[in-house]
Amino acid sequence: MAKIAVLGFGVVGSGTVELFYRNKESIIKKAGKDLDIKYILDIRDFPDSPYADKLVKDINVILNDDEVTLVAECMGGVKFAYGFVKDCLLKGKSVATSNKELVAQKGAELLAIAKEKGCNFFFEASVGGAIPIIRPMHQCLAANEITAVAGILNGTTNFILTKMIEENMKFSDALSMAQKLGYAEADPTADVEGLDACRKICILSSLAFGKHVYPDNVHTEGISAITPRDIADAEKWGGAVKLIGAVRKLDNNKIMPYVAPHFVCRENLISSVNDVFNAVMVSGDAIDKAMFYGRGAGKFPTASAVVADIIDMAKADKTSISQVWEDADNSTFVEKIENNETEMYVRVKSSDKAVIEKFGAEIISDENGEVSFVTPCLSEKEIEEKLTGVEVVSKIRILAM
Ligand code: HSE
Repeated sequence: MAKIAVLGFGVVGSGTVELFYRNKESIIKKAGKDLDIKYILDIRDFPDSPYADKLVKDINVILNDDEVTLVAECMGGVKFAYGFVKDCLLKGKSVATSNKELVAQKGAELLAIAKEKGCNFFFEASVGGAIPIIRPMHQCLAANEITAVAGILNGTTNFILTKMIEENMKFSDALSMAQKLGYAEADPTADVEGLDACRKICILSSLAFGKHVYPDNVHTEGISAITPRDIADAEKWGGAVKLIGAVRKLDNNKIMPYVAPHFVCRENLISSVNDVFNAVMVSGDAIDKAMFYGRGAGKFPTASAVVADIIDMAKADKTSISQVWEDADNSTFVEKIENNETEMYVRVKSSDKAVIEKFGAEIISDENGEVSFVTPCLSEKEIEEKLTGVEVVSKIRILAM
């Protein structure tokens, strides 16, 4: 018998508990041993919950109970979660987390502790919600040299963009709908400004290239500046605007991770990924491309990944099978965004129309005093140089993958 503690009884934590009890019989069969949830940690009271008898407020109850060998951290944030997870691992308890901020900030350290203590630190739920992506990259694609990863990594912004494109919904209405559905972060700025997707591309980059990539070193833009004209121009050009997290290996052996809105052409499957769905495209030297698709946020989709990690931790017992990546000095490993080579959608004031000749580009639209075009593939520094002295209204990268 292995006992589980769930840290945090919010959307994901309560989903984890409910899903565990809903499918307990088959979960136990798959784990190959009896399992039960002994504690749920939360500072709030839930007197009406059917699980009220399991609620505790003090992490030491869990840390000091040797019966608890499996922990699911669903609190979010780093402030408290970091210490709690670290202490659990130091006690040899395996931890599954849905907390992308924690993995993106502290992954290298926590993985090293898990390895040293012969337990596991799993985080399938931290990227892509229900989509299996961490384990496929670590296990099924392990024979490959990964060359690039790109995709829609945030459900809230994809939901908002879809509602804006298909239902002409206002940004604020679409956001509150996403919040009601439990997709958004506690502070939705993290979704809207790209930080959540940034944490996820950091995790995928660290996993793909074996060195920790920190969010502070990753160029990040969100969707708050996207306008109906951008969306209409993307359609005229032949695609859709999507918030993309991407990383690729460069010839100089550095990597280029970043998060930004992109025009994605209709032929690319990613362009038709809508609503809360996420999709991750992985390129490797043996596979060419593989795509992973599913619900990227929400109570049960995320709980699905947490509970799967619990099952794998129970099966692994005291064998450490989690992947490990090195800590790294990002200044020598992560390339600057100015050296990113890309085609770029650019919209300028019609009075600056002459600049289009410098790029040898064709006009996409010329209306309401603004003219738009797509540059050839150039470094972002070169694009900036050619645009010197020009009033740029909008600039959106074109997804090449
Ligand atoms: N706020 C996140 C999203 C939750 O919308 O994708 C899942 O990580």
